[in-house]
Amino acid sequence: MTINWFPGHMNRARRELAEALTQIDVVIEILDARLPRSSSNPMLTELRGEKPALTLLNKADLADPTVTQSWLQFFEQDRKRSALAVDANDRSSIKGVPGRCRALAPARQGPGRRVRCMVVGIPNVGKSTLINTLLGRGIAQVGDRPAVTRRAQRFELDDRVSLSDTPGVLWPKLEDQEGAYRLAASGAVGEAAFDTMDVAQYAAGFLARTYPEALAERYRLETLPTEPLQILECIGRRRGFLQRGGVVDLERAANTLLRELRSGAMGRISFDRPAPE
Ligand code: G4P
Repeated sequence: MTINWFPGHMNRARRELAEALTQIDVVIEILDARLPRSSSNPMLTELRGEKPALTLLNKADLADPTVTQSWLQFFEQDRKRSALAVDANDRSSIKGVPGRCRALAPARQGPGRRVRCMVVGIPNVGKSTLINTLLGRGIAQVGDRPAVTRRAQRFELDDRVSLSDTPGVLWPKLEDQEGAYRLAASGAVGEAAFDTMDVAQYAAGFLARTYPEALAERYRLETLPTEPLQILECIGRRRGFLQRGGVVDLERAANTLLRELRSGAMGRISFDRPAPE
């Protein structure tokens, strides 16, 4: 289920999240480790105000580990924030979450008091997966509904930390063109919103600039053309995606590149870096 984020949905998401946050001590903000900047929503910074945040760089299994490390250092500079790189499907990678939440809200410690946490993030970033893994059970898929649409229940992560089973959903920041292409290339926003050829050309250009070896190796390209469309043509030729008359099926090459980039088949790729690019 995908919703189109019209202004009405955004206002509602904002209102519901603001209300839910009044009952929360620590916000667990999930970002995509491959694109922490593009997958963030500045609205959350505004709504959380002085509340501490645990920033989880999720899908770290798909991201470039060196870049993820520099993001962790970047986020840890914020006194009210703690950051961890995780794979929400892997229980061992998230075992530090309750401890981090406790450390962020020392005032909530004491007999009978629990640090109340809630997961927030844009669609597809891994909110349901994380909640399921943390709670060790299956919750309903949250889908991409704006904010919190049913009464949240709270579950204990341990004797001092509780988690709301309903995440806050924020909209992706599509007004920033570069960020929007990165969200689309990584698969974080639905196919329908974008033209595959456009996104694949963006991805080919990005990979040729930033991960040329990975791209060349994956498709056994001896030289990398400078034009994204030519890169797609070479990929199509390599894979034998030929139409009548020997013309390369560019659409098929585009789909292949995006699928293999998203699945990690091309190696661990990060789109955003903390330093200005
Ligand atoms: P959401 O609630 O924020 O909308 O996201 P959700 O948990 O539904 O996760 C979206 C997709 O991302 C799912 O894949 C999920 O398996 C995948 N995912 C979540 N966390 C991680 C992670 O740390 N690493 C990797 N590699 N993938 C992750 P899907 O294709 O929609 O479903 P499925 O293939 O898992 O069935």
